[in-house]
Amino acid sequence: MQQDNHQIPRNLLITGGAGFIGSNFVYHWSKSYPKDRLVVLDALTYAGNRNTLVNLENNPQFKFVQGDICDRTLIDNLLESDNIDTVAHFAAESHVDRSILGPGAFVQTNVVGTFTLLEAFRQRWNQREQPQSHRFLHVSTDEVYGSLQADDPAFTETTPYTPNSPYSASKAGSDHLARAYFHTYGMPTIITNCSNNYGPFHFPEKLIPLTCINILLGKPLPVYGDGQNIRDWLYVEDHCRALDVVINRGTPGETYNVGGNNEVKNLDLVQQLCELMDELAPNLPVRPSKELITFVKDRAGHDRRYAIDASKIKRELGWSPQETVEGGLRRTVEWYLANQDWWQPLLSDEYKNYYDQVYA
Ligand code: NAD
Ligand code: TYD
Repeated sequence: MQQDNHQIPRNLLITGGAGFIGSNFVYHWSKSYPKDRLVVLDALTYAGNRNTLVNLENNPQFKFVQGDICDRTLIDNLLESDNIDTVAHFAAESHVDRSILGPGAFVQTNVVGTFTLLEAFRQRWNQREQPQSHRFLHVSTDEVYGSLQADDPAFTETTPYTPNSPYSASKAGSDHLARAYFHTYGMPTIITNCSNNYGPFHFPEKLIPLTCINILLGKPLPVYGDGQNIRDWLYVEDHCRALDVVINRGTPGETYNVGGNNEVKNLDLVQQLCELMDELAPNLPVRPSKELITFVKDRAGHDRRYAIDASKIKRELGWSPQETVEGGLRRTVEWYLANQDWWQPLLSDEYKNYYDQVYA
């Protein structure tokens, strides 16, 4: 069913494809559509990792380019030389805590970078006489909708934007640009707003990998505030499947919310991870690992609750998540146990410096 509209091979430009979700998407797409050509453009910031894509290095359908999405000349050249018809735009500064420490990079990459890509794609699309099969997928977040109270209904595609962090504000700005390029120029942009992802290749600074890694190292597990904030967790493979159906069957100009229907309080999530680690990891420095849980100062402007109503993408495109939170967390813990070679080198001096600033 997913491949109905996919008879002609596509040439994709995947920005941010060396990051967490982008790399999972690259693997998903190369497996699902082996005839398509995949060009990954990634600046390899602290969050980008070339090793993540090592299994594709010898695949003739795959090309990696290190570069910045703000570099208009580079983008123009890539769109032309690789005859790109589909952009899957993941590249972003993505961590809320870093946006509190330094918002400038977020405005630059998320707003100016997205604008640069949209402009380059518009020029190319016009030169090629506006093919309707072209797509510009803008991958965004549920955080643009702001924060929910305990009894509020989940975010829908028409929930007003009320971003609260420099991260979500910069993503909101980029969403508005992507939307405007459809309404003003008719360019076939589609926006997805997704809830919190988790799974393989997640950078150590985010709650789930941070908890797994700190348990293995016997370090405190920092829980912000009272630990009662709620996130709606989605296994990353389910997100990639959603993006696949949106590219192949979504309607240009539309927005699709993507979520796991898995609302969990942070403290409960950390406790579940502790139990899984106690069960699966040999020789933990501290056991039971729950003893490591430490309440720390709350994040500034910390959104209380996110929840996604994903009924539109289910109704219109037939997508729904396949992984449960229990199954997904188990797979994730097993992955971090089996792939210490992937995450150990990421605990660099830069990371330690960042860590000290946030958790001091
Ligand atoms: P990530 O931080 O793991 O990866 C971002 C990637 O973008 C990195 O590889 C980085 O090197 C690259 N990058 C950063 N600045 C760049 C630039 N100027 N030019 C080129 N490349 C650059 O992020 P992620 O978690 O994979 O998120 C990917 C996208 O999905 C983001 O747009 C994010 O807003 C969105 N999103 C994330 C989540 C989540 O839970 N992680 C949820 C919903 C939406
Ligand atoms: P995070 O993984 O940073 O994702 P986001 O802020 O985009 O939702 O954080 C998930 C939740 O976990 C969020 O409510 C903040 C909280 N959190 C902690 O309690 N401790 C931590 O050390 C981190 C990184 C996050």
